[in-house]
This record gives sequence, structure tokens and C-alpha cells, in this order.
Amino acid sequence: MSDINSKKITVLDLKNKKKNCEKIVCLTCYDYFSAKIIDKCNIDLVLVGDSLGMVFKGDENTLSVTMDEIIYHTKAVKRGLKRAFLVADMPFGSYQVDKSEAIKNAIRLIKEGGAEAVKLEGGKEIATVVKNLTEYGINVVAHIGLMPQYVHKMGGFKIQGKSSEIAEKIMEDALILQDAGAFMIVLEGILPELASKITHKLEIPTIGIGAGKDCDGQILVFHDYLGINIDFTPSFVKKYAEVANNIKTATERYIDEVKKGIFP
Ligand code: KIV
Repeated sequence: MSDINSKKITVLDLKNKKKNCEKIVCLTCYDYFSAKIIDKCNIDLVLVGDSLGMVFKGDENTLSVTMDEIIYHTKAVKRGLKRAFLVADMPFGSYQVDKSEAIKNAIRLIKEGGAEAVKLEGGKEIATVVKNLTEYGINVVAHIGLMPQYVHKMGGFKIQGKSSEIAEKIMEDALILQDAGAFMIVLEGILPELASKITHKLEIPTIGIGAGKDCDGQILVFHDYLGINIDFTPSFVKKYAEVANNIKTATERYIDEVKKGIFP
């Protein structure tokens, strides 16, 4: 692990990376030590995602996640980061009700959590919220395509944009969100060709997850790429480790050694 490139990443660095055709590498994270480890690897951006509902709490979707939970995890991750840019998710229900509540909640993520940007799911229906937040100086990451907070509307976690009509809507949403002030946009679960078109059309960086290789950057969920999620691995995920197996082997050894009087 090196500290060579330990200059703090800012929103300007992320925007410049697109201009300089440098890939932006992102991960989700939910706790202090994991944040500390991935920060030392020079990850560009860390997201405290509402995916914590599934991979941290064990829920079947992200809908139950609260503002207090995101703030709790954001604070922990923040303490572990020196370099990476920190984004916190606005959970379901925290920005849909009215303008003042959306602004109040985004401010909490910045003030209490220590986030440098907030991420919101939705297309043109959230453009006004994005505009309001950016006008108050809050960096906004948009999130379109497969939006887990819309799971009931989508009828499950399904690839989006297969029909030309929906693909056009996703493209239109991307442009509207850029105009509203989003500085970055997550493209989740859409066909690679559509992600590629959006990436070329937009001035702001696109971050893909299950959206092919042409996005300006990629994000993966911590528990997926490390092989900790033993319930389900999305088809687009590459596992870079089998941490669940390591935990199992170490735990079995510990149990065995205590039983046999080898440890302590
Ligand atoms: O909640 C999350 O972790 C996310 C990423 C998968 C982009 O939104």
C-alpha cells in the first residue's frame, strides 16, 4: 500500500479526469478500517451507499435505510479517509417529500457525516432537487438506469433501457440532470452501448456499475468484489478476492485450536 499519490482528491480532480481520459475508480464502503485500507490503495472516490441496507443490514432491498444510518456509516468512513473523495447516498424518502426537507437532509450528510457530495436516484423528476442542492453549494452525483430505490416500480433489479423508448428516456434524463447541476452520474444496470453513448454525450463523468467498460469510471460494492457477499453475486461483478472463505477458514481454525487447548 502506497501513500505516494496521497494528495486529496477534490471535485475538480474528478472533473479533470474525464477531460484527461483518466478512469475514475470508485468503491462503496461502510466502516472505518475498510475505508482506511482502500484509501491507502489510492481509490479516487468512496460512496457510503444505501446498498448498506442489503450488504450490511441484510435487508432484501435498500428502502429501509434511514438518514441516521447513512450518517453513522459516513462518519466512520470519513475517519478512515485521507485522500479519497467521499460521497453519501440520500436514502429513499429523504429528498422526495419537499424542497426544504431535501436540503436539510443533504446538509446533514455534509455537516454531520462529513460527505463532500450527495447521491440521489432518479431522472428528470428529481432535476429541481438537484438544482436546489447545487445552488446551495452541495455537490450532487445523480444515479439513473437501474435505480434500486425504484425496485417495486421496476418489478425487481432488472437491466434498464432495453427498449429504444426507455433508452431514449435514460439519455434525456442524463442530459437534464447534467443541466440541473449534477457533477457526476452513476449509470447502473444499462446496456453497454447506451452507457457508451451517454458517456460520449455528457461533459460530466459517468460512473458505471453493470454498464460496460466505456464509462468514465467504475464502482463496485465492497462486499461483492471482495467475495464477502455469500448470498448473491451480480453477473457483472468480478470477484477480486474470496474473503468469505478466508473468514471461514480462520474461524474454523480458531474454534479447533480453542477446543484442543492449542490457543491460547
Ligand atoms: O448504494 C450503492 O451502493 C450504490 C452503488 C451501487 C452505485 O448506489
